[in-house]
Amino acid sequence: MQNQTKIILDTDPGGDDIFALLWLLSLVKQGCVQLVAVTTAEGNVNKSVTFASASQVLNFTGFECIELGKGVVGNTDIEDAAYIHGADGMGNISQTLPDVKHDYACARDSDDIIIDKLNANPGEITLLAIAPLTNLAVAESKSPGILKKAKEVIVMGGAFTVPGNVTSKAEFNIAFNVEAAEVVFKSRNDIVVLPLDITNQLIFTPEMARKVYSHNPEKPVAKFVVQLCDFLTDTSLTYRQTEGKKGFLVHDAATVAYLFYPETLFLQRARVEVETHGKLTKGQTIFDNRHIAKTDANAWVALKVDAANLLASFVEDLKVLLTYNS
Ligand code: BDR
Ligand code: CA
Repeated sequence: MQNQTKIILDTDPGGDDIFALLWLLSLVKQGCVQLVAVTTAEGNVNKSVTFASASQVLNFTGFECIELGKGVVGNTDIEDAAYIHGADGMGNISQTLPDVKHDYACARDSDDIIIDKLNANPGEITLLAIAPLTNLAVAESKSPGILKKAKEVIVMGGAFTVPGNVTSKAEFNIAFNVEAAEVVFKSRNDIVVLPLDITNQLIFTPEMARKVYSHNPEKPVAKFVVQLCDFLTDTSLTYRQTEGKKGFLVHDAATVAYLFYPETLFLQRARVEVETHGKLTKGQTIFDNRHIAKTDANAWVALKVDAANLLASFVEDLKVLLTYNS
């Protein structure tokens, strides 16, 4: 089909990663997206677990044919986020899903997949980066200039006008590997950034999950959506992710919204830099968004979101997934 957006999803499932993946899979079913590969990374949980989780979800939803990459080893500056996402990165419900289909031992490294696919399709593939940026940075270091061959690089990460979620300054995906983030922000001048400033407003509620469920309760994915949402709602309340509101933050889904529902986001041109050394500020993303000539800008940063409409579109597309799902 023509006009399909070709995407590589770089991900570290992670509950919100899985919700973003389900949204993308709905758009694949609707003919809007060609998911060229899913490259997993170390982040929310370790790289063998993120690989297994992504494989299970792809298998469960009938997409086991999509190539899955395994994460490369990078510097890890902080502890993982299993306390939010569960030890398996998916609310400790992985044992209720069909088995892992992809073979970890034989899988290609995520950075090699990124390099090969971008070389084979220059200017055509959009990279959705919803994990620490290790895979992208290793790809760029191995093959300088490779990230410029992506149509767009869209990153969920950073915190500009709000506190971080790892330290008072740093957001998880940036803080996990600050050197990698720095490499990616230096790789081109049009990185799209979806930071906590807007993702903190994206609270997916148990009511939304039940709306999806009741659209087609027979489908196994319907139950999965409810179970995963309920788990993440509990941990989010415990760890005060949502200021006491019932639900969990679908940070990573903002990247999908940027591509398919751009009317829900307002972006500002800016130069973004990553603090790689500060004793108190390591992992901070800093931007210069003054109204001066932006000759050295490297990014567009989302600073406002129409959360209600974004989430409404998300729920509708998840319902559509249940219409198709086997
Ligand atoms: C980001 O960190 C991870 O825990 C989430 O999956 C998301 O990608 C939010 O800071
Ligand atoms: Ca993630």
